[in-house]
Amino acid sequence: MQTVRQCEALQGQCLEWRSQGLRVGFVPTMGFLHEGHLSLMRIARSRCDKLVVSIYVNPLQFGPGEDLESYPRDEEGDAAKCDQEGCDLLFLPHSLYSEGHSTRVRVEGLTNRLCGANRPGHFEGVTTVVSRLFGLVLPHLAVFGEKDFQQLAVIRRMTRDLGLPVEVVGGPLVRDLDGLALSSRNAYLSTEERARALSLSGALRAMAESGIQDTSDLLRLGHGLLEVDELDYLEVLDAETLEPLEVLDRPARAFVAARVGRTRLIDNWAL
Ligand code: PAF
Repeated sequence: MQTVRQCEALQGQCLEWRSQGLRVGFVPTMGFLHEGHLSLMRIARSRCDKLVVSIYVNPLQFGPGEDLESYPRDEEGDAAKCDQEGCDLLFLPHSLYSEGHSTRVRVEGLTNRLCGANRPGHFEGVTTVVSRLFGLVLPHLAVFGEKDFQQLAVIRRMTRDLGLPVEVVGGPLVRDLDGLALSSRNAYLSTEERARALSLSGALRAMAESGIQDTSDLLRLGHGLLEVDELDYLEVLDAETLEPLEVLDRPARAFVAARVGRTRLIDNWAL
């Protein structure tokens, strides 16, 4: 596995692979890799000749007072995991934006709800960095986790609207044995907080298994089961459009975001 820190070197290598007719797969991450990230790498690995993984904690997608400074990092451990998964190139840039970088990419509509409403500017930061990375890696295929279901929908829309020749693939959410959705931020949780964090997946599972069709009744059930310190949202939405639903008459998904202690967690479940 080669490790690259310079944008030009990354683009040069990817262009060379392309000119040799090789398919390039890409998994962008912010590091502190867990089984969820590794499962995305396996999807890209199985469908491409070359696998590129990036690790970059993107300042543009963090709001004031969020955990940019304290975001967990483990460069050495992450590199060993990428190597083990058969990654060909690990991109570890110090920065992705040159001085005076002034371009932003914004998807409207889909970003109005859920995390878009609770974290102003977050998705603009995500789409700006992902489009920058797509321009460097020029991947045939890129894989994003369904844990960030709204992010996946927003990136799909951006890719379609800009006509980028990248196949965006969703990888299933990976849970710990106790049901907690894997997240780099789980590292912040104390034992007591982790026990309460399980109420997110517990509430979503109970909603999915209840057989209730009316979304107000479903949400009442979910609210009653959450043991969190601050709820950002609990919503049931159309799985395609992310628009609200009154009854489950089409594929739907339940979404939750909440703070347990100081840690903000998200989860979602197909209904
Ligand atoms: O999902 C993430 O880890 C990030 O939002 C991403 C897609 C790597 C962009 O920084």
